[in-house]
Amino acid sequence: MSDIEKLENDLVVRIDAASTEAALEEVRVAALGKKGVVSERMKTLGKMSPEERKEMGPALNGLKTRIAEAIDAKKAMLEEAALDARLALERVDVTLPATALPKGKIHPVSQAFEEIAAIFSAMGFDIAEGPDIEDDFHNFTALNFPPDHPAREMHDTFFFEPKEDGSRQVLRTHTSPVQIRTMMSQKPPIRIIIPGRTFRCDSDQTHTPMFHQVEGLVIDRETHMGHLKGTLEAFAKAFFEVDNVGTRFRPHFFPFTEPSAEMDIQYERVGEEVRFGQGSDWMEILGCGMVHPNVLKNCGLDPDEYQGFAFGMGVDRLAMLKYGIPDLRDFFAADARWLEHYGFDPLDQPNLATGLSR
Ligand code: DAH
Repeated sequence: MSDIEKLENDLVVRIDAASTEAALEEVRVAALGKKGVVSERMKTLGKMSPEERKEMGPALNGLKTRIAEAIDAKKAMLEEAALDARLALERVDVTLPATALPKGKIHPVSQAFEEIAAIFSAMGFDIAEGPDIEDDFHNFTALNFPPDHPAREMHDTFFFEPKEDGSRQVLRTHTSPVQIRTMMSQKPPIRIIIPGRTFRCDSDQTHTPMFHQVEGLVIDRETHMGHLKGTLEAFAKAFFEVDNVGTRFRPHFFPFTEPSAEMDIQYERVGEEVRFGQGSDWMEILGCGMVHPNVLKNCGLDPDEYQGFAFGMGVDRLAMLKYGIPDLRDFFAADARWLEHYGFDPLDQPNLATGLSR
């Protein structure tokens, strides 16, 4: 056996024996790497006489090609085996019944957010969000709360420790600061709703220090009170899932709107149940108004050119009313039995076509 044949046999045995890709790579480097045995042999060709080279050239080149092919073939085999092993490991048993897994429930507040978003998306509103920690400018000043105005105190604000310059950050007391952030960063027409967490230092049966709001803002050139009324009436009908609901707009005061109003909707109490869209009682569900010219100016918009309306509603209260939940504090008690009872199916996405809540 020539020593080339012997070398080849040797290498083939080692290739066969390599049981992992790493081991095979070691063999490849030992044979075909810069300092590999085959490569070293190839280097000797340069020093040979022409006759010798004529014989050894094809022999060594043949060796090199066959070894490279053997390594490639083995590599493909190892890769395939690795893939088979992985597929076997990651096999999914599609015969497992879907009910085998316990299903969670969607919290009524999340459900209400989703329903409100579905209603306003269908009307062409986008969703905007802002930070929970605000500065005085966005939470109050730009919204036309004068300095030292009692309205700032009315909000029972959580203040942070003053900074070196004396300014104090706050936990936002309402979602209205996102109106400012949007108007300062976006050109009209603007049509957004702003869902989010809000904070006030207040706690009893109907108040929790953290609660949820959805704000609305529409800014365009010819927006008027009629648009506000039509939008909010359409919302009330859709949210309470009734064909008609009487509404009443009572004059009110908010620093950031002029005129301002609170919207009441018609309802009737039958035993424990509250029915919307019938009866002769009124329940307040949100605040609203035409955006104050000062607020527009504070955001760099010309009130002679642009106008719009805004509204803000408490989502926790809306959820309590709609789903008949008696105590607000249960929302935050993290009681699995309560959630099992009042929660919603995570696979039922609220939408206007199939109904919002089931
Ligand atoms: N920010 C008000 C609050 O938390 C709610 C509100 C009232 C928002 C009227 C508005 C509005 O955008 O127009 O009490």
